Parts: sequence; C-alpha cells; structure tokens
Amino acid sequence: MTQNAPLIDPFARAIRYLRVSVTDRCDFRCVYCMSENMTFLPKKELLTLEELDRLCSAFVRLGVEKLRITGGEPLVRRDIMTFFNAMSRHLASGALKELTLTSNGSQLEKFAQPLADAGVRRINISLDTLNDEKFAKITRWGRLPQVLRGIDAAQKAGLRVKINAVALKGFNDVELFDLTEWCASRDMDLTFIEVMPMGDIGNEDRLDQYWSLKDLRAQLEQRFTLTDLAERSGGPARYVRLEETGQKIGFITPLSHNFCESCNRVRITCTGEIYTCLGQEGHSDLRGPLRASPDDAPLEDAIRAAIALKPRGHDFDYSRQTVEGQMTRHMSHTGG
Ligand code: GTP
Ligand code: 5AD
Ligand code: SF4
Repeated sequence: MTQNAPLIDPFARAIRYLRVSVTDRCDFRCVYCMSENMTFLPKKELLTLEELDRLCSAFVRLGVEKLRITGGEPLVRRDIMTFFNAMSRHLASGALKELTLTSNGSQLEKFAQPLADAGVRRINISLDTLNDEKFAKITRWGRLPQVLRGIDAAQKAGLRVKINAVALKGFNDVELFDLTEWCASRDMDLTFIEVMPMGDIGNEDRLDQYWSLKDLRAQLEQRFTLTDLAERSGGPARYVRLEETGQKIGFITPLSHNFCESCNRVRITCTGEIYTCLGQEGHSDLRGPLRASPDDAPLEDAIRAAIALKPRGHDFDYSRQTVEGQMTRHMSHTGG
C-alpha cells in the first residue's frame, strides 16, 4: 500500500499546499471575478463543515502543510469559525505549518480576533484601490471604509496582513506609489497580481486592462531600489525588498512569467471538486468518494488519482494581442 506516501504529481512536483473554497458566495461582485448577476449553488450542493474537515484532514495526512481557505468570501459561510477551530488541531499536532485565508476584508471586524485565536497568523486581503469611488466601482457592492476597519481589526488582533492588488491598467496604475507607501506606513506586505482571463468579460476588456508586472516593476525602480529576495511564502509570488522603506513587494505573474514549473498546490471547490490547475478545466469529484463511505481509503485513492492527472500548467497568453487560454469559469468558483 502507498498509504500516506506524499502526493507527487506526474511532473515530480510535491503537493504541499491546499486551497479550499468554502463558499461560492461573496458580498462583493469584483468585475474581474464575478458577473453582476451570479447564480449561486443551492446549499445542499455544498460540502458540510464536517465533510470539509474530513477532506482537509485527508490532505494533511497526505502531506499538505499549508491550508488556505478561500471563497467567494470565506467569512460569509455560516459557522465558518467552527471549521477554523477544528483545523487548528492540525497546527497543534505540527502536521500543518500554516492555516490561513484570502479575504475581501469586509467581515474582519467581527472575525479577526477569533481567527487569531484559532491559530491564523497571516491573512491576505484583496484591495485594488484606496479611492472610495474606484473601490465601489471595481467591487460593485463593496465599500472601502468597511474594509479599512477590517484591516485595522486584523492588525489589532496581531495578524500579519498582506494586501493583494490586481494590477489594472487605466485603473490603479496611477496609484502604484500611493498603494506602496500606504502599505509601508502600516507595515503590510503588498502583492500585485496580473489579471487573468477568467469569467465572462469580453476579450478586448481584458487586453485593455492587462498591466504587465514587468512594466509595474520598472516603474517602481524609478523611485526605489529593488532587491530580489530568495524567500518564498509557499505561494506563486516572487518577492523584492524596497531598500528605502524595507517593505516586501510580491509579484504574481501568471502571464509575463509563468511559474507553473514550481506549482505545489491544488484547489477544492465548495462542492468538493478538485481542480489541479487554476487555468485548466480538468477536475475530478471528491464528494462522491467522501459520501460513499465513512472510511477514508476511497477518498485518498480519489485524491491520488486526481493528482496523477495534474497538468503541466495553464495556457493563459495575451502575447499575440488576443486572449488565449481564456476560462469561462469564474475565479470565485475555485477561489483564485
Ligand atoms: P501566500 O501564502 O501569501 O504566498 O499566498 P498565495 O499567493 O498563495 O495566495 P493568494 O490567495 O493571496 O493568491 C493570490 C492570487 O494568486 C490567487 O488568487 C490567484 O489569482 C493567483 N494564484 C495563486 N496560485 C496560482 C496558480 O497556481 N496559478 C495561477 N495562474 N495563479 C495563481
Ligand atoms: N485575475 C487575477 N486575479 C484575480 N482575482 C480574482 N479574479 C482575478 C483575475 N481574473 C484575485 C482577487 C483576490 C484573489 C482571490 O484573486 O483579487 O486577491
Ligand atoms: Fe468576492 Fe474576492 Fe471575487 Fe471580489 S475577488 S467578488 S471579493 S470572491
């Protein structure tokens, strides 16, 4: 039996990082992530919190060391703290090195302290602009002051905050230095993400919006001295330090520099499908094996079978002035 052998994919990449979407719902409607009129899944389709626990625990047994909870917005899932509190036992046992989440920040006033109590040390918060009107425009339903209060609460609870900003030409390019300096002043790391062609937005729009992080980096270099850092946070970001401020800036560059060769992660949707690549359609069902038997052996077999199909990488490409590798799936489906 290969029981408890670590998960290794066909390209010899060890899978140590699991991203789990606990809900497809969100209280925002970011334009690059969702359409305005999303239809959400009926509740009975979702994995229960107990099923999520069983599933994540199986992955931890199989060598996953980093668990990131995503959505939609993970903190809008009812009773989500029950799940975080349950997962903290894997931190206590030493099996899990990091329990964390990616959030839009809207619910953090309420959840920051309980999350810290559950053993969360670090949180990634999506924030693309510091301008109230632009924030309302890009998130459609979000309001900046609420998110800023959430960030305050997170820092007060002792959580390390990393801001994720999707780099959008004609939108937040003018705020590059404002965002950078604001993060420095609050001792927060900042990561920029290239916009990926997902969801149902027109191809022309994506091309118009695409702001290569090579350009963004060149702009930063006009004002700051950048030192490349070897350190990694276990995700796809590559970091630099700005010598003048001491802060860390991350770049997530699925388009301008494909990082698939070092991919260490898989994703689970809130209905228990496993996606072994964010940028490919291929997925398998884990809910069936999970529900078929209280014994975890069929589930572990299904996990191994899925990992054995993990593709080499995504096909996103804007380089020929067309959008290639476009995914009709919304980002909220797999949690980014
Ligand atoms: P750290 O633990 O801080 O390194 O976080 P992370 O970058 O792994 O997680 P986060 O949720 O902040 O991810 C930021 C974004 O990076 C995601 O929402 C995706 O947009 C993108 N991303 C993460 N993993 C992949 C990947 O495997 N492929 C692609 N194309 N994009 C990814
Ligand atoms: N391209 C790049 N990043 C995206 N996100 C959502 N949709 C896209 C997209 N099309 C980001 C969010 C958040 C993370 C979960 O994914 O801003 O930081
Ligand atoms: Fe919600 Fe995050 Fe998608 Fe925005 S990017 S709609 S906050 S899930």
